[in-house]
Amino acid sequence: MPVLQYAQMGNTFGRLFRVTTFGESHGGGIGVVIDGCPPNIDISDAEIQRELDRRRPGQSKLTTQRKEEDRCEILSGVFEGKTLGTPIAILVCNKDARPEDYLEIARKFRPSHADFTYEAKYGIRNWQGGGRASARETIGRVAAGAVAKKILPAFYSEFEIVAYVAQVHEIIAKINRSTVKMRDVEQNAIRCPDAAAAKKMASLIEQIRGEGDSVGGVIECVARGVPPGLGEPVFDKLEADLAKAMLSLPATKGFEIGSGFTATRMRGSEHNDPFEMRGGKIRTATNNSGGVQGGISNGEEIYFRVAFKPTATIAHEQKTVTASREQTKLAERGRHDPCVLPRAVPIVEAMAAIVLCDHALRQKAIGLRGRWK
Ligand SMILES: Cc1cc2nc3c(=O)[nH]c(=O)nc-3n(C[C@H](O)[C@H](O)[C@H](O)COP(=O)(O)O)c2cc1C
Repeated sequence: MPVLQYAQMGNTFGRLFRVTTFGESHGGGIGVVIDGCPPNIDISDAEIQRELDRRRPGQSKLTTQRKEEDRCEILSGVFEGKTLGTPIAILVCNKDARPEDYLEIARKFRPSHADFTYEAKYGIRNWQGGGRASARETIGRVAAGAVAKKILPAFYSEFEIVAYVAQVHEIIAKINRSTVKMRDVEQNAIRCPDAAAAKKMASLIEQIRGEGDSVGGVIECVARGVPPGLGEPVFDKLEADLAKAMLSLPATKGFEIGSGFTATRMRGSEHNDPFEMRGGKIRTATNNSGGVQGGISNGEEIYFRVAFKPTATIAHEQKTVTASREQTKLAERGRHDPCVLPRAVPIVEAMAAIVLCDHALRQKAIGLRGRWK
């Protein structure tokens, strides 16, 4: 028995705020165990449920029509509305599983999904609904993110985090990153605060769904009110942990922080963020750094962008092979998201909150409250 296989399973994320997710798309349920949450943080089922409702399927005609209420149950770690400091376990039961929809992919590998690679790695896979590779796994992350979102403002009173759809296929939104609020994001089903762009995105997604195809796009996320000092040199740099968190999400293809890839077309004289004194604080006049320098937050807005690919499962007939290595064709008929972005917004926010919470606890653990406010 290869013992190391078990030591290497990547189901836990974080050092001090440790999040372990479990469950498969069509198993009994999906959930999370959060260890390292400080005691006496106010948290209610409703606050966790609110975040899960933003992620759940069937919210609008633009998402998969799988009907899951995704009601969460807090099994441990919370008593009379406050965290106990003990492990928090949260469970969501799967209700609307339709394994019969997936009979064909029990044998055939879906192009650009995780069927072939899971089979290659484990020699076995739960083909029902994509098993562990299903985006239902992110329920646990969103629940943990809801807890992290309660801890962070308890540490930093001005903390807030907002993610939104910035691009769908070739439609690019115009958004003021520094002023956008969650209520602006939640005003439409796309979760794009530029109403005109959101309308175009919605009709494109409808059209693409009608054609049995899919599209991707970009989600931007901004965290405000994070003080200087969060992040650990060298391997656990704040941006490195954010990148890992984002690229661990299903369907992600790219991550950039601050100026990102546009920095490659700038000169140092344009790109550097000059320091200045503002409101008695050391600030930067521009923020091409995206709020992180040397892997450590500098007190400016932390902003980054995540690229999502077009959903792998489409209704077009595609070339593929079977587990017994025969060439064949596959046209999916199950329920799928023609564009994953609207539902991925709360997931990106959750992972960012988990990373920031972990680093906030690590900063507290070194016993300094940060020299620069
Ligand atoms: C919110 C969300 C919903 C998703 N829904 C689907 C879906 O309906 N069909 C599908 O094929 N992939 C969907 N995905 C993506 C797959 O889970 C993902 O592509 C698959 O696990 C393979 O992993 P990879 O794309 O990261 O390589 C979704 C992803 C997210 C974030």
